[in-house]
Amino acid sequence: MKKKISVSTALFGLAMFSQAAIAAGSLNVVCSAEQSWCDLMTTEFEKQTGIDVAMVRKSTGETLAQVRAESENPKTDIWWGGTGDPHLIAASEGLTQPSGVDTSDLLGWAVNMSNISEGRTVGIYAGALGIAYNSELIKEKNLEAPACWKDLTDVSYAGEIQVANPNSSGTAYTELATFVQLFGEEEAISLLTEIGKNVNQYTKSGSAPSKAAARGETSISIGFMHDMVKLASSGFPLEIVAPCEGTGYEVGAVSIIEGAKNLESAKKWVEFSLDPAVQSRSVEVKAFQVPSNSKATVAPESPGLSSIKLIDYDFATYGSSETRQRLLARWDTDVKNAEKN
Ligand code: F6P
Repeated sequence: MKKKISVSTALFGLAMFSQAAIAAGSLNVVCSAEQSWCDLMTTEFEKQTGIDVAMVRKSTGETLAQVRAESENPKTDIWWGGTGDPHLIAASEGLTQPSGVDTSDLLGWAVNMSNISEGRTVGIYAGALGIAYNSELIKEKNLEAPACWKDLTDVSYAGEIQVANPNSSGTAYTELATFVQLFGEEEAISLLTEIGKNVNQYTKSGSAPSKAAARGETSISIGFMHDMVKLASSGFPLEIVAPCEGTGYEVGAVSIIEGAKNLESAKKWVEFSLDPAVQSRSVEVKAFQVPSNSKATVAPESPGLSSIKLIDYDFATYGSSETRQRLLARWDTDVKNAEKN
């Protein structure tokens, strides 16, 4: 008799437990930031809410393609991280929906994303684009350290530069859009074509080239400065350059997918990701972007946006489907196929 009671008690307890798990819900997240930050966010959100998260990491352009492909029957609820332009494009194509989150503590550049997209996306961090070089390799190969974007066209850098492909990578799309804003479209395409002659590989992810430069697999990389700082502060021989002509920047974003099956959980994720306490934890994984909540702590290592010569990046224009399509087509035809030096 005694034994029987304990078995049924255990079964009852199990039923209650699984009901609680079901009640807490689940959430499908595509994360376009670095894997370590995606993991930290997932673990912490599960801990705080009891909601079960299934997360995959994908580059920003790849995620836009996935969200488009899934639009009839979305499998994703949340798209967190990645550069803002593709989030704005998804918003304009009706692939995401307003989250209704309170933006009153956010910095202007984060609210701007919400304004452009009528609340369908919102800024979570910002970071500037730059050049990194491996100081040991540059010395060994007797190369000049680059100081400007235009320096990268020099034939002495043949096979020495690595950058991502703007079709898959938000970082590389930011670079393409930055060049167009700095130099005008024709000169931008011809400069990128000249630089392309020195490129040894177009990677899928935006942070891969700087990781390769850190490991000594390429001398020079183009990417976000915060990713470079992460590597330099981990002891790799990387020098970081804010290009002399000025540079562009990203506003990383979060969006809820239109037709999300776990809408309430998705809204909680958006709130969670704007929470200053959560944003301040990015430093634990050396994610040195500038957080969007004015009450979050900015890591001393974060490349300060005010100390860099930044362009007035036009998110509305470069976050439009028409502009992206045109620029990517030109990149595919002219830049990608440039004959190598
Ligand atoms: O977390 C690293 C990071 O540089 C983010 O700041 C940025 O939003 C994202 O990667 C872009 O990644 P990708 O270029 O692979 O789309």
